[in-house]
Amino acid sequence: MSAQALLKNIVTESASQPSQLITPFGPVTRKFDEFWTAKQRQMHSLHYANSYRASFKPELPEYFISRFTNPGDRVGDPFGGRGTTILQAALMNRKGVSNDVNPLSERLAAPKINPVTVEEISERLDEIDLSAPVDMSREEDMSMFYHEDTYRELINLRNYLMEHRDDIDRFIEMTALSRLHGHSNGFFSAYSFPQISIPKVNQAKINKTRGIEPDYRDIKSRILKKAKTTLKSGQIDELRRRAKHQKLTTGDSRDLKEWESESVNLVVTSPPFLNQVDYVQDTWIETWFCGIPREEVDGKIVQTPDLSKWMEFISDTMSELHRVLAPYGLIAMEVGEVRYQGELLNLDEILVQLTCSHQYNRHQFRVKEIYVQSQQFTKLANCFRVENNKLGTNTNRIVLMEKI
Ligand SMILES: C[S@@+](CC[C@H](N)C(=O)[O-])C[C@H]1O[C@@H](n2cnc3c(N)ncnc32)[C@H](O)[C@@H]1O
Repeated sequence: MSAQALLKNIVTESASQPSQLITPFGPVTRKFDEFWTAKQRQMHSLHYANSYRASFKPELPEYFISRFTNPGDRVGDPFGGRGTTILQAALMNRKGVSNDVNPLSERLAAPKINPVTVEEISERLDEIDLSAPVDMSREEDMSMFYHEDTYRELINLRNYLMEHRDDIDRFIEMTALSRLHGHSNGFFSAYSFPQISIPKVNQAKINKTRGIEPDYRDIKSRILKKAKTTLKSGQIDELRRRAKHQKLTTGDSRDLKEWESESVNLVVTSPPFLNQVDYVQDTWIETWFCGIPREEVDGKIVQTPDLSKWMEFISDTMSELHRVLAPYGLIAMEVGEVRYQGELLNLDEILVQLTCSHQYNRHQFRVKEIYVQSQQFTKLANCFRVENNKLGTNTNRIVLMEKI
């Protein structure tokens, strides 16, 4: 059965009201609007510390946290990524809990919810010796990305960070992660992509096409410059005071062992969309820099081209979220449109189906509303490979579900 045919069993769009989905449990309203600004970089500067594949804008968690929780409530994200939800929760004086199967997520998120000052970073950088000789024959060949002097500094920093892990060191690590590859002089690498760790052969091709060789990039000054930008919105003391209420876990979304039952008031999250993004391949330079063994991520990140496997995965995650949610707790789950077997599939409709179907999450959740954020075509959509509609717009689809 095709995915669309499967869907028609449960969800049909009302002919009289195209923004309503008819389900066995009654109509579900689909609201189309610009719920938050399409402008870039309007929120706290810590949100923009790192690029991350398929991250959502901080305006998205801000929208749901402000409407559906009070200060002191707990806000969770089982697919935490770079930590957008937990950081926004902390900024809004909520208790956050964030999980991701990739240990890289914790390296990116922890320093943002427990930041340090520019002065502390500057002093620490002065103390670290990045000029020690390095036996390059024992290191990975990264000559297509880095000048050998840059690479020596990078290896020295990496070795230092293996052994030194206080809050300042961890902030330096998170900032270094944001500088590993990109298109401007602010990055350590030759001209490359900031969002994606591209394969070595592709970088070699870029160098050849552009007629470039990696030039020397001083690491410390670039880290300090980026840290100043990241910390410019302040609130450092507040965040540090609240850090004890925030929790980061590493594991599978279907088994959130360290999350207490009935402890979370609102989940704001975005799962992988089938296999739209390759989270393992696209972060290989970051995982290499952090010394995270490949087997810790390979095979654990769910990225499947198979719709029924994806549905099972999301359904199992939702059952686990049912356990951790407080009575009447909410999930705001962001999904998009994907092309599947030649058809355009709105994943919000699949989520509605999961909540209605005996086979999946029936009697666990009630869909309250669907929010479709329409906005101008963005870089984010580009990286999702989201289809443009005729007007040149793309959508984020957020399904709001209440625990039954
Ligand atoms: C769409 S991204 C989330 C981005 C996040 N909202 C942000 O703003 O950074 C999906 C995340 O799901 C994670 N992931 C994939 N499979 C997982 C699993 N089985 N359990 C937990 N996390 C998983 C990926 O590592 C990725 O970080």
